[in-house]
Amino acid sequence: MRISGRPIAAKLAELGAELTPGVSMTEKTSLGIGGTTDLLVLRKFETIPEIMRLLAEDGIPHRFLGGGSNVLVGDGELSWVALHLPTSKPGMSVEGNTATVDAAADLGGMVTFCAKHDLGGMEGLIGVPGSVGGALRMNAGAYGTQIGPFVREVELYRASTGAIETLRGNDIRFDYRHTSFAPDDLMLRVKLELPSKPFKDILAGIKVCNEKRRSSQPLNQKSAGCIFKNPPGRSAGRMIDELNLKGHHVGDATVSDRHANFFVNAGAASCAEMLALIDDVREKVHAANGIELETEVIIWKN
Ligand code: EPU
Repeated sequence: MRISGRPIAAKLAELGAELTPGVSMTEKTSLGIGGTTDLLVLRKFETIPEIMRLLAEDGIPHRFLGGGSNVLVGDGELSWVALHLPTSKPGMSVEGNTATVDAAADLGGMVTFCAKHDLGGMEGLIGVPGSVGGALRMNAGAYGTQIGPFVREVELYRASTGAIETLRGNDIRFDYRHTSFAPDDLMLRVKLELPSKPFKDILAGIKVCNEKRRSSQPLNQKSAGCIFKNPPGRSAGRMIDELNLKGHHVGDATVSDRHANFFVNAGAASCAEMLALIDDVREKVHAANGIELETEVIIWKN
């Protein structure tokens, strides 16, 4: 979807939105997969409602792209524009046990920033790739820690009201890799309440998690983390591994040799190849275990 060259482009620029035409999503996603579209960086929170109104008026579909670490994007010319928050120097501050962080901040960066202020609890999240906004939306978690329980307040743009609102943490449902946010809500800023902990203790916890992750996950390959959610009481990775599917591939879309629930782009995989691999593995797991795996990665088909 192209907005460059259309009358709306000048209006969006006046509202502080920065347009980059023809961006390949291979460069914006950790999987390195996806077609091309215009990218609009929303530089001023206060103009977002007006920008969203203009896009709707012109019938321009959009998707909010965060860190791009948990999405599988369709191939070819995309039918929507990608909206993005500015990632350089995101706001992060601490007052007492409360950290206030912009949604565009890197999740790991936030964990270490808080650690330096002797605020801990989030050590398990250290190696989870992506933005704070993406982590909030998905209730990111690892090693027994999820972001949800620390959330006290979220400032967000709500498509349902067309306004910027603040939700209290208690009014948001955080489940396993799922939240009560609407798909078209845009996270802007979060307040987290964190337990006090000495920096060196947090660092020790961080090192343990990094080590566990390095030993079990393919960190140097292009992936979106785990492809499937774990069904209650079961591990999707173990079930796929038990079927000897490590290395199984459709084109360059490949089941990791390291962790069977990580599907990696071993070269120039397309979305179609990755989707075919997902379907194939899902069918094989279903045939063997009677369990229908649900994707954890968000799929934006074209
Ligand atoms: N296992 C295998 N073979 C494999 C992979 C795993 O036998 O190829 C076994 C492991 O040996 C272990 C069990 O399966 O006994 C569970 O594996 P692991 O500890 O790696 O955890 P997981 O359940 O596969 C979950 C999350 C990860 C998170 C880790 C650590 C999901 C879908 N996955 O993985 O999150 O990093 O625990 O907390 O919830 C993600 O969300 O993208 C993600 C990677």
